[in-house]
Amino acid sequence: MTHTSSTKEIPAVGAIPKHIAIIMDGNGRWATKRFLPRVAGHVKGVEAVRGMVEACAKRGVSYLTLFAFSSENWRRPAEEVSLLMRLFVTALEKEVAKMHANNIRLKVVGDLTRFDAHLQKMITAAEEKTANNQGLTVTICANYGGRWDIIQAMNRLQKDRIAAGQSGQDVTEDQLSAYLSMAYAPEPDLFIRTGGETRISNFLLWQLAYSEFYFTDTFWPDFDAAALDTSIQSYQNRERRFGRTSAQVTEQTSTQESK
Ligand code: IPE
Ligand code: IPE
Ligand code: MG
Repeated sequence: MTHTSSTKEIPAVGAIPKHIAIIMDGNGRWATKRFLPRVAGHVKGVEAVRGMVEACAKRGVSYLTLFAFSSENWRRPAEEVSLLMRLFVTALEKEVAKMHANNIRLKVVGDLTRFDAHLQKMITAAEEKTANNQGLTVTICANYGGRWDIIQAMNRLQKDRIAAGQSGQDVTEDQLSAYLSMAYAPEPDLFIRTGGETRISNFLLWQLAYSEFYFTDTFWPDFDAAALDTSIQSYQNRERRFGRTSAQVTEQTSTQESK
């Protein structure tokens, strides 16, 4: 079974977002502003990830999804790409045991086949170790692209249907979304992009259909718990209508409350 889609369920007004998805952008500019190599920004960026995981766990967020490396980021200079890979390995080495101790479930989604065998093994081991944890689910999107996700879901669904002798039949949204790489999570309630750009950059295209967007100029290494709280406050002041009128939403949430 897939998770209830957040486009079908109206969360209570003022609720903490169940799922926060973040494009962690601005590491390079954070470093350049300080006359440091871009690398230094990525190192600081990993520290910010640690802080964000802790802050989200404390606030009772259930899912935190972080865009760490896009399918387009291979276009960067080879040196920067290999440094990012090394940072990924070190972060896994250092953090997984701590995450496990804190009841955090770690997931890594994206086309992992392009990573070297050692990194792939580490990812599998980390996921297996933390699989039964009941606390915050942290998803790292690595070599991830929203279009890749939709296509891989379609291809896997098609294969299963051919095997079941059902090819040629129309596909429903629920059937397809069960094959998306984050089928285990509800859709993001709050989408955050740091670093000043106001674009999706091929992140969760399907899943962001009805998410609330929050953009900030703050560079990722500076995005701390206080900055997170500001974004959550902005989220809590919004009325999510999912196509309905404001009056309908007020009516529906008051009946939900009186139940
Ligand atoms: C985000 O920061 C981290 C990754 C994409 C890996 P950037 O490296 O994109 O930082 P800017 O946008 O150049 O400042
Ligand atoms: C998006 O950031 C991807 C990640 C944060 C991993 P980029 O900095 O690569 O995005 P663009 O290329 O500026 O849109
Ligand atoms: Mg960037």
